[in-house]
Amino acid sequence: MRINTLTFSPTGTSRKIAQAILAGISLPEGIITDVTHVEACDVLFAEDELLLVSVPVYGGHVAPLALKRMERIKGNGTPAIAVVVYGNRHYEKALTELFDFLNSHGFNVIGAGTFIGEHSYSTPQTPIAPGRPNSEDLAFAKNFGSRIRAKVLNATHPTSVDVTNIEQPQQDADVMLRFKQTVAGWMNEGKSMPKCPTTDMALCTECGICAKLCPTGAISPSSPSSTDANKCIKCCACIKGCYQGARQMNTPFAQLITANFSVQKENKILL
Ligand SMILES: Cc1cc2nc3c(=O)[nH]c(=O)nc-3n(C[C@H](O)[C@H](O)[C@H](O)COP(=O)(O)O)c2cc1C
Repeated sequence: MRINTLTFSPTGTSRKIAQAILAGISLPEGIITDVTHVEACDVLFAEDELLLVSVPVYGGHVAPLALKRMERIKGNGTPAIAVVVYGNRHYEKALTELFDFLNSHGFNVIGAGTFIGEHSYSTPQTPIAPGRPNSEDLAFAKNFGSRIRAKVLNATHPTSVDVTNIEQPQQDADVMLRFKQTVAGWMNEGKSMPKCPTTDMALCTECGICAKLCPTGAISPSSPSSTDANKCIKCCACIKGCYQGARQMNTPFAQLITANFSVQKENKILL
């Protein structure tokens, strides 16, 4: 049996989790598909292979571009592991969406995980799960991988899981309600939000790394200060990847999330 991986990971945390799980699974590696910058091509995985999918949560859903770019991946009753990575607020509908996507594409979901990654909006001033996944998270992910290995090697047809049975993260209901009410209030009053990151030209050296890291080609390689807001998905890869710290996006969400979701959540798995 070989293990194939599928990731979308603009700021690298979903990829780190996938790599740690992969180390624990420790089976021969098959196709590694990273759809962060390109769409997956037509692939049909066989019944005796395994697919690990790790994607980030955006607004409580699977990052929409990830689903779009994975559309041409198909299975033939292929066992799959569904992993969503979120920035310590909540993943809400994301895991069920990934589960439904995999089932409708011919996969048999035999394991699932919800993992924490540093929030894309995290900055030194507004830290949100900074440094996660940390070494403990990665050890947990690797152990999850070992348990997947045992499951697939001990059964000819590994049993599917129902992802609604996964343990929910501990979350104070009042805090979540306050957060949602604040966001609803912002939407009602038409609060202005940044549409994409900006560049501080006093710091920018025009090295072009931001344009290379952008999953949607929203940043012009010849003129990195100009970002196409219609293409930008606010993934923050350009901000985190800028050596000069020249890119920023002052979204009010960063402060709101820092204020309400500082209690660190735990990774959860289901097998
Ligand atoms: C546009 C956007 C929306 C996000 N929405 C959520 C969310 O609803 N809940 C949450 O906990 N984290 C949210 N995050 C944080 C990401 O899920 C988190 O940082 C994840 O680790 C990013 O994955 P990556 O490093 O693979 O890009 C959001 C991030 C972005 C860019």
